[in-house]
Amino acid sequence: MINAKDAVNIIKFKLSYRRFNHSVEVAKVAEEMAYKFGIDTKKAYITGLLHDYAKGIPSDELLKIAELNDIIEDEVERLVPDLLHAPVGSFLIKEELNIKDKELLRAVELHTLGSEEMSDLEKIIFLADMIEPGRDYPGLERLKCLAMRNLDEAMLYGLNSTILYCIDQKRIIHPRSIKARNHFLWKNYKENEFNLK
Ligand SMILES: [Fe+2]
Ligand SMILES: [Fe+2]
Repeated sequence: MINAKDAVNIIKFKLSYRRFNHSVEVAKVAEEMAYKFGIDTKKAYITGLLHDYAKGIPSDELLKIAELNDIIEDEVERLVPDLLHAPVGSFLIKEELNIKDKELLRAVELHTLGSEEMSDLEKIIFLADMIEPGRDYPGLERLKCLAMRNLDEAMLYGLNSTILYCIDQKRIIHPRSIKARNHFLWKNYKENEFNLK
């Protein structure tokens, strides 16, 4: 596994100053959440640092890399190629940095859309990306509280806000976000007897 110092140097070179700062903040929040939920804090920190590895790559290039390596999962990604920074980032981390940790790679891959199957690390990276101190949007404080209390409830809240934001901005919604949202809605319902209407 790569160490944190090397990961910092790599993303400093790859990303703009603003995105570099965002990555460091995501890493710090991910580390804190990992401690809280009893998972590997070092891995959470490094995954947070690397999660936006491909964010500096222009859309047309992301699409080209995704097409060449059979990474496209849904046609929506051709319409919104920026979504590909997550799976392409995961692919490039494996290829260029020779990182083989499957959970780290999957956490990077899933950090924008989520999935129906997510480990605690994958949920933590998804959520840390949404609640790092540089963020500001309605509902953020509520999500911050949930993220430190219950990962599945926080996932539902986070996915709902992402989907509502897309609707508000008249943006296309990736089907995987809807599937993930329905999964967490149902999971929370079963666990907490929420009123599923
Ligand atoms: Fe991202
Ligand atoms: Fe990010």
